[in-house]
Amino acid sequence: MKICMIGTGYVGLVSGACFADLGNDVWCVDKDKEKIDLLNDGDIPIYEPGLKEIVSKNYVSGRLKFTTNLSLAVKDSDLIFICVGTPTSKNGSANLKYVYAAAKEISRNINKFKIIINKSTVPISTGDIVEKIISKKVKRKNFEVVSNPEFLREGEAIRDFRFPDRIVIGTNNKKVIKKIKVLYDPLIKKGATFFSTNRRGAEIIKYASNAFLATKISYINEIGNLCEKSGVDIEEISLGIGLDKRIGSRFLRVGPAYGGSCFPKDTRAMVVTGDKFKVNLSIIKSVIKSNNERKKLLTNRVQKVLLNKIKNKVIAFLGVTFKSNTDDMRGSTSLMMIPMLSKKGAHIKYYDPTGLKNEFSRLKNVKFCNDLATTCYKADLIIIHTEWDEFKSIDFQKIVKKKNFKIFDMRNLYSVNYMKKKGIKYFSIGR
Ligand code: UDX
Repeated sequence: MKICMIGTGYVGLVSGACFADLGNDVWCVDKDKEKIDLLNDGDIPIYEPGLKEIVSKNYVSGRLKFTTNLSLAVKDSDLIFICVGTPTSKNGSANLKYVYAAAKEISRNINKFKIIINKSTVPISTGDIVEKIISKKVKRKNFEVVSNPEFLREGEAIRDFRFPDRIVIGTNNKKVIKKIKVLYDPLIKKGATFFSTNRRGAEIIKYASNAFLATKISYINEIGNLCEKSGVDIEEISLGIGLDKRIGSRFLRVGPAYGGSCFPKDTRAMVVTGDKFKVNLSIIKSVIKSNNERKKLLTNRVQKVLLNKIKNKVIAFLGVTFKSNTDDMRGSTSLMMIPMLSKKGAHIKYYDPTGLKNEFSRLKNVKFCNDLATTCYKADLIIIHTEWDEFKSIDFQKIVKKKNFKIFDMRNLYSVNYMKKKGIKYFSIGR
């Protein structure tokens, strides 16, 4: 099929490359000429394992093309995906100006029947507004607006595209459902469930899914707090809970608080949507509160581990992004922890496999190190912030070269007994 992805950010570029890899002809369109030039030069503007290979393979085959010329791409395609950003506005709602601008530009270039598919995360009824915008210029029979939310995780996006649990399509147009089912057929053949509902239903499914996952994480984090006070190991509890098929073991790992570009944004947008429809989404409100409080709780925990003596202490951070396998700092707990500890006079070194972070460049006594050994050398406290594989079997005594150092493992990568046997003062979460 001939497809056009409008927006080559995280969703547009990954989905476009993967659609091309399924044999479709794909245009990836962006207003940002620099980004398009970069892509045409074979570079990738985002960090996503495996993306460079899949982009270059399909670019060389001619199936995947990058352009700033929206008109050319839309006219040449049958399916037009809107994949532009929906950043958070001041009041917590999703800012839809890019979605509406894309709809307007599409409406100027409809030369034959088009299926306009919204893949951006948008509040309920956005599809209705997109349809109104396009109807100003185009007869209703010449287009259909559909919702097709994405469920891609950063760091796992290609896998999540190729092996989705479900493909959700929001439209009542049977002909269009059939056509989109053909597009996704290779994934359906590998086991994905194809599910269609009305457009508003698909819009809510995306937000409700993310809000539920955020709820599940906050829930286990709070149970972890209880475990710490009652001498129980949260890892055992997660296992015991997760074996109940109604609950499931995934997204039941304690951590430093959820971050990222989606959970914080989508939970807030969901609450705003609830308020708009005069429905009090009290559980999601408490999840947002619980997660924000967790960042403070763990930052205070660091002070307690150091017996409230922060000044001149050497603290090593292993990882600073919101999770492993990404370079994304949005919503990361380190953005609260590092400035606070630096302000209290700690000397902070951090290592992250994705490199130096501008977020910390203006902070005095915060230094980026290129490797683990330099980061951990002579540290008083080592904080394991993200769960990169390379952090999972470190011989700390060999690289710290100092007695009485402590470890605060915010991802429970190590066992309490192992650390006890090594004689290392080890602190973790929910244990
Ligand atoms: C999320 C959704 O998973 C994805 O379906 C949606 O399309 C986009 O938002 P993402 O934000 O990339 O994906 O990352 P995810 O892997 O979901 O992790 C989000 C946060 O939850 C991270 O901070 C992570 O560390 C945390 N997390 C995740 C936990 O603390 N415990 C878990 O068990 C899982």
